[in-house]
Amino acid sequence: QVTTTVEPSLQVAPYACQRRTPLDHPHSALVMALETLAEAALFEGEEARGLAFTRAASVLRCLPRALRGTHELSGLPGIGAHSHRVLQEVLEDGVCVEVETVKQSERYQTMKLFTQIFGVGVRTADRWYREGLRSLGDLRSHGTRLTREQQAGVQYFEDLAVPVGQAEAESLVCLVLDATAHLLPNASVTLAGGFRRGKPCGHDVDLLLSHPEEGREVGLLGSLVAWLGEQDLLLYQHSSYSTAAEASSSCRALDRFDRCFTILRLVLPTAGTRVRAWRAVRLDLVVVPHSQLPFALLGWTGSRHFERELRRFARHEREMVLNSHGLYDMRQGTFLLASSEEEIFQHLGLDYIPPTLRNA
Ligand code: GTP
Ligand code: MN
Ligand code: MN
Repeated sequence: QVTTTVEPSLQVAPYACQRRTPLDHPHSALVMALETLAEAALFEGEEARGLAFTRAASVLRCLPRALRGTHELSGLPGIGAHSHRVLQEVLEDGVCVEVETVKQSERYQTMKLFTQIFGVGVRTADRWYREGLRSLGDLRSHGTRLTREQQAGVQYFEDLAVPVGQAEAESLVCLVLDATAHLLPNASVTLAGGFRRGKPCGHDVDLLLSHPEEGREVGLLGSLVAWLGEQDLLLYQHSSYSTAAEASSSCRALDRFDRCFTILRLVLPTAGTRVRAWRAVRLDLVVVPHSQLPFALLGWTGSRHFERELRRFARHEREMVLNSHGLYDMRQGTFLLASSEEEIFQHLGLDYIPPTLRNA
């Protein structure tokens, strides 16, 4: 008697926000190859090419089981000819020559180093590269003109290069909870970003602050920043406030919340042998009116690609505009309210995807 097992074919929905993408998956080598090329394309200012590689990588991240061979790639959405070639090479040879060449190039390594500095984007990194700068030492010794933000980024580079761990994230949440409890009783502090998606570490901690009585949150950012300063915990901060004038003039901007990008002095647990008592970590604070909290939470949880796909899906499949403030239905000409993330997915006609499955 012969039994044949039929392999279920891999079914993948076209938009990342229609897919469940866990943190762990069996294709890390393939994903790393594509994401390296995506990053390299962005370093050259080639956004569309970068996005194509990011899309292909995101499809591999969501596959429910390991690929059984190159033949299975053809049924997947979003794998262009170039990505297909790269994947085939990694599947067959273990490495892709193009990817290895990129990784070893001075250009890629330098751009990666420079863009890792807090406050440095691709344009600045590219300018420094063309000026012949190659290292942090070069930036320091050539007296390169740095913004205040970049000065802090260079000064605390070594600390910020060490990922923030879950215990450190928790102690930052506790610190902010403690402070807000004094400054504004009943204020809420919600962890967003990569940690909410279940990542064990991240480049920063993202916190949303709100208050159940809308309007009470006004002024919280200023008093919290002042408090952190008084405690001597603030190594750097850059705040922006959504004044009424600014909000009306920049109605096309993605996000108009009061926010503060900081570098904090995180006091380390005491240990007998430790030389240093603290280290620098990045903390982002965003203050959100209560009625917008579900939208802000959805927008600040990420991943970046999941967010991009949610917005693309809303616009192209539903004629809706989604951002961190709300959801606008262009056909009805109305804003759709929501009291939870689940309701936003419902408005969009999407199955709910929990944060830990948004690692697209
Ligand atoms: P790690 O910090 O490296 O763990 O990754 P992360 O996913 O937390 O990334 P990051 O902290 O950069 O951003 C968290 C989420 O907030 C992402 O989904 C971003 O899209 C979103 N985000 C970051 N900056 C802004 C912003 O200025 N406006 C809005 N609306 N969203 C932002
Ligand atoms: Mn983050
Ligand atoms: Mn952040």
